Amino acid sequence: MNNTFLIHENYTINGQRLKIVRDDIFPFIGGGNKARKAVAYEKFLKEEGYNAIVTCGGVQSNHNRAMALMCAKNRWKCHLCIQGSKERFAEEKGNALLDRLSGAECELINPEDTATAMDRAMEDLRARGYNPFYVIGGGHNLSGGTCFVEAVQELKRQCDEEGWKPDYLFLASGTGSTQAGIQVGLDMVGWGDVKCVGISVARKKEKGIQVIAEFANMLATHYGLEKDYKDRILFNTDYLFGGYENYTDEMKDYLDGIMKQSGLVFDTTYSGKGFWGMMQEIEKCRLWNKKILFWHTGGIMNIMK
Ligand SMILES: Cc1ncc(COP(=O)(O)O)c(C=O)c1O
Repeated sequence: MNNTFLIHENYTINGQRLKIVRDDIFPFIGGGNKARKAVAYEKFLKEEGYNAIVTCGGVQSNHNRAMALMCAKNRWKCHLCIQGSKERFAEEKGNALLDRLSGAECELINPEDTATAMDRAMEDLRARGYNPFYVIGGGHNLSGGTCFVEAVQELKRQCDEEGWKPDYLFLASGTGSTQAGIQVGLDMVGWGDVKCVGISVARKKEKGIQVIAEFANMLATHYGLEKDYKDRILFNTDYLFGGYENYTDEMKDYLDGIMKQSGLVFDTTYSGKGFWGMMQEIEKCRLWNKKILFWHTGGIMNIMK
């Protein structure tokens, strides 16, 4: 069996017992779920003989950073289409700084020009003699899901040793490939009754569910699993505070307090929203006695911006 570098730990936070998957400290290229995805892409790109990628994301995209560092490690060309202003990208630290230092080609674009800019970059790289792969924003190709199926397989092996099984699994959900991979993984290991709840960091309900279900269906086909995820995705949009990167002072203070009592770092854009949402749901739905697992997807760079 492959080692997927899955680490889990037990915590009691504000009286609530939790198991936490520590993908925030995934041990490559800056950590987080996007690093887990990037390592899966690395394997795929090597096997298929690619030597360049084109991808996209915001100024503080963890995906862009993980892809840029993964390419640097392999001396592959990386072209990032970065949705945001030149000024913000030049000034900010965190992921933006690492993008700048990685040697990636950083092209600042308007969000609505993403497809055109990515197509142009693909053509340009081909014209320069590279063999580029088009990585959908957030790592939303097959490799971005299969790595979470494999991670769940490892989680199951670890939990079996303790005789533990979650009733609920919560995570921050954006493009949805992490959630889709985890959901399909749960079904594949015979844990289909575990409720996998994505706390939305950006998308509205209908669109979020549709994208996650489509991706999960693609994964199911890949594994020969006869399942339709159309009505099976749990996606909670109650903690968006109006959208991507939005949060409240109450949430920020709460997360800062959690850091002081646990050493766990939560940012306000991704995992912190997921954690806050989960703790609210535990209270609201009285899940105190349920076995709860939080999949910490990272975001430390977003605090360091
Ligand atoms: C730290 C972190 N957590 C969670 C997510 C959501 O992951 P996904 O896009 O696979 O839903 C992201 C996406 O950017 C992220 O950077």
